[in-house]
Amino acid sequence: MYRYDDFDRAFLEERVAQFRDQVARRLAGDLNEDEFKPLRLMNGLYLQLHAYMLRIAIPYGTLSSLQMRRLAEVAQRWDRGYGHFTTRQNIQLNWIRLEDAPDIIAALAEVDMHGIQTSGNCIRNVTADQYAGVAADEIEDPRIWAEILRQWSTNHPEFSFLPRKFKIAVTGAELDRAAIRVHDIGLRMCRAPDGSTGFEVVVGGGLGRTPLIGKTIRDFLPKDDLLGYLEAVMRVYNALGRRDNLYKARVKILVHDIGAERMAAMVDEEFQAIQAEGGVALDPVLVARIQDHFAPPAYAPAPEGPPEVLALERADPAFARWRATNTAAHREPGYVIVNLSLKPHGRPPGDATSGEMRAVADMADRWSLGEIRVAHEQNLVLPHVRQADLPDLWRAAAAIGFATPNIGHLTDIIACPGMDYCALATARSIPIAERLADRFKNLDRLHDIGPFRINISGCINACGHHHVGHVGLLGVDKNGEEFYQITLGGSAEEDTAIGRIVGPAVSSADVVDAIERLVETYVDIREAGETFLETCRRVGNAPFKESIYAAA
Ligand code: HEM
Ligand code: SF4
Repeated sequence: MYRYDDFDRAFLEERVAQFRDQVARRLAGDLNEDEFKPLRLMNGLYLQLHAYMLRIAIPYGTLSSLQMRRLAEVAQRWDRGYGHFTTRQNIQLNWIRLEDAPDIIAALAEVDMHGIQTSGNCIRNVTADQYAGVAADEIEDPRIWAEILRQWSTNHPEFSFLPRKFKIAVTGAELDRAAIRVHDIGLRMCRAPDGSTGFEVVVGGGLGRTPLIGKTIRDFLPKDDLLGYLEAVMRVYNALGRRDNLYKARVKILVHDIGAERMAAMVDEEFQAIQAEGGVALDPVLVARIQDHFAPPAYAPAPEGPPEVLALERADPAFARWRATNTAAHREPGYVIVNLSLKPHGRPPGDATSGEMRAVADMADRWSLGEIRVAHEQNLVLPHVRQADLPDLWRAAAAIGFATPNIGHLTDIIACPGMDYCALATARSIPIAERLADRFKNLDRLHDIGPFRINISGCINACGHHHVGHVGLLGVDKNGEEFYQITLGGSAEEDTAIGRIVGPAVSSADVVDAIERLVETYVDIREAGETFLETCRRVGNAPFKESIYAAA
């Protein structure tokens, strides 16, 4: 894992001292809220419906057990004993008192954590495949490049006041688990015919009120050119992105307006100019140092398919189901990747209490070389587990309710905070997720339905990724009542697609029944082995539309 060096630590200490002074001046009334707002947002401190909310970055979703324990401590000591893991691999604490905020960021800085660039019109926390470095289908660990991007983009003077926020995601694998096509820049590592590795560069994806799928502007970018090329993208955006209209300010609107080809040509031109000035040099010593941080751990030899695990699988269908659903193939023989489901039926998706965070940290120390990942689907991952340890780990995960075998299934719902916390919300998201999870809690049924992704957002900003859910629910306000617009056929993976709206929004009272009718229709009309998304693509919205509005 990456560890901060003295430079990083000194920078954070300085930031903590500055913030302490800013908060003191705000509390003393020397700064008014308008003056204070940009200062707090630079440290990830928002003001929400009920209280301050602190968004803490988890770069490329990688956490150590030490950091997880510190998050648990912070949540317990200064919040209400829980945190919310988000779709951008951050964690949010919802009940922060302003006077505590400096102590909190000081406590986080001690373990190399902060909320810098988790807000504002800058390059935000760089996200990555949660299985980075361990996935069986990976070409190369994308976190090396995510970390280089983190260092390059942190406090970059030229890109601190962009037209709007800017989100970058990186994947190094065949399967896209990082939703790269709905980011401002998506990077996919790929191989050239000569065997060298580089990046496919995708620009102009995004959700929000104008969902757009990113376009490839470079099929293969050699790694050495990464910073120069991205600098060129940022310069084109910084110069031409619209600053006159908040809703048209994202790079996706620019790419849409001028077209991907023109964007590619302008970026190329800028890139040539940057190269002519000497380029953005990547110090090979620095790259080697970062590579060392992410070198694969020294895995102790472990048997592939240990007999005791296979025996338990035969004896206990619950274990077999969990293993089949919540684990993924590891690149190292005898090892496996384990997903801890933060979607226990009846709980807000993505939440974990301080006790649960500590238990996960203990599990990581015992069975995953002290490392944890956060998935953009709002689950946690233990990346380095010996297959032989699966039975013990399964029991430990079950003891804290994180072993629900629902990864990628209907109750593995992505939901934004919605009206429970968010000042921009037009409807609630979390209670809908809870009601759906309750309705579909029968595991036999859940597994008969198969892969099925529901994403819920509490307003048009789409923080819950509703456009790219197989089923998307968008909360809207109709004369003071909460309604939900339903979209079908979305996907955030290699086959990224924006869901299509089915028809008029349904009321909060009807929405769970409507989804149930939709699911029944799918089960009736699916062909053998066909997933919901495949059926949806084959038959279109019509049969589902009929069922959704049948009894409404
Ligand atoms: C609670 C306070 C939050 C506020 C005020 C907020 C605000 C916004 C706004 C205004 C947008 C639209 C940006 C645009 O279209 O230009 C947006 C998009 C988004 N937010 Fe949030 N958000 C909040 C929480 C979250 C949370 C909890 C998550 C993760 C679960 C999140 C992840 C995202 C994502 C993924 C998008 C859409 C992707 C994109 O930027 O195109 N946000 N948010
Ligand atoms: S989608 Fe809307 S309600 Fe949900 S967190 Fe984002 S801004 Fe808030």
